[in-house]
Amino acid sequence: MKKVQLTETVLRDANQSLMATRLPYSDYEEILADMDKAGYYSIECWGGATFDSCLRYLNEDPWERLRNLRKNLPNTRLQMLLRGQNLLGYKHYHDDVVEKFIELSIKNGIDVIRIFDALNDFRNIETALSSVKKFAKKRTIASGCISYTQSPVHTVDKYIEMCRELKTMGFDTICLKDMAGTMSPYEAEHLIKGIKDAIGDMTLILHTHCTTGMAYMTVLKAIESGIDVIDTACSAFSGGTSQPSTETMFYALQQYGIDCDLDEDIINKVNDFFKPVKQKYIDNGQLNPKSLATDAQALVYKVPGGMLSNMIANLTDMHAMDKFDAALAEIPKVRADLGYPPLVTPLSQMVGNQAVTNVLVGERYKNISKEVKNYIKGEYGIAPAPIDPDLSKKVLGDDMPVDCRSEDEKRTGEDFKAAKEALGDLCRCEEDVMSYICYPAQTLKFLQNRKAQEENEAVYTIEEM
Ligand code: CO
Repeated sequence: MKKVQLTETVLRDANQSLMATRLPYSDYEEILADMDKAGYYSIECWGGATFDSCLRYLNEDPWERLRNLRKNLPNTRLQMLLRGQNLLGYKHYHDDVVEKFIELSIKNGIDVIRIFDALNDFRNIETALSSVKKFAKKRTIASGCISYTQSPVHTVDKYIEMCRELKTMGFDTICLKDMAGTMSPYEAEHLIKGIKDAIGDMTLILHTHCTTGMAYMTVLKAIESGIDVIDTACSAFSGGTSQPSTETMFYALQQYGIDCDLDEDIINKVNDFFKPVKQKYIDNGQLNPKSLATDAQALVYKVPGGMLSNMIANLTDMHAMDKFDAALAEIPKVRADLGYPPLVTPLSQMVGNQAVTNVLVGERYKNISKEVKNYIKGEYGIAPAPIDPDLSKKVLGDDMPVDCRSEDEKRTGEDFKAAKEALGDLCRCEEDVMSYICYPAQTLKFLQNRKAQEENEAVYTIEEM
């Protein structure tokens, strides 16, 4: 019997997409024992923005959350999303930091590490991969992930070549990550058939979003074309900017006679649990119902929805909404000049802001942002296609582009030393050090709070006795 398995995303991407990752662990602890029996391929529950959100907004230790997830989900693969050399942040970390981060992630309970680079420059995911292999336990899976985008250079052949490369590098599975939800059913069919032919029986995963309304059609075509795993969210947290619904896909697959290992009663119980949770965040305004709607603009304008709303906000701030059409038309031109980077964070913001600047200044690239300059210098990695030579010359002059990897490879232990010094007696374990390296200001505040809380509790305990 043909089989397609499902990854449940409610604990990470679904809540990240719909309510800015503000779901605290305490909100879902109760349902974990049931989720553990549902039969998911994996539960995506960590990484992405959860780490930052724990420290910055939820006063939670992300490592403690992970250990609690592990304890309550002993039989299910726990999955995280990792931005390659950027880990869970926005800058390149040194290789020794990347290695330690992965060692600790596996030690604290992660099984599946899905690793991507915004530019698909696979040099930026090599260290993460070798670290996973170094610290792998029996259940550990290294998943190589491709940032999906459309452009004249992003052809089916190019994606097939990328998949071959990921396989050669030694990844266990491959994931196509359609972060903007713009992959059409037609594209999914050609892409997935082509990739499956090229990589044989290696597990292929599709991650998409319902943002533009394509997802259910695209996922169905993906299933017909041989996909092995799809990402879905329990229906309370599905749709809109999130993933397609777990239960809906379950019923559709059943009628096709495709087994997905899920227990019908349990997935319905899980969804019942999350219904009031969702309502609570709609009521308090943290879940904006707008994010639950379909918005096909990304298909019309070829830019992700988030990027469009950002641009409208910026132009409104500057009282320049009359330049909206011109700025919108400028985006694809800037993207082409920059060698067609996938429009994913941080590149979507960089391209959007540069387009607005070009239009407002009235002369293209008269002002170039520091980030775009660094991109052109090569600090983010290699662009998918050559950067416009005039633009390149303007930024680089007679200099050669830099190799983004040369800095990363320094393994001096300096980052750990500096973090330990900065934390002093607030630091208790390697996990604290790692949190500080990733998010210094937030971690410092979090650890100071932790200390103050414990001192208060200690006082109470003495008084009670
Ligand atoms: Co996503």
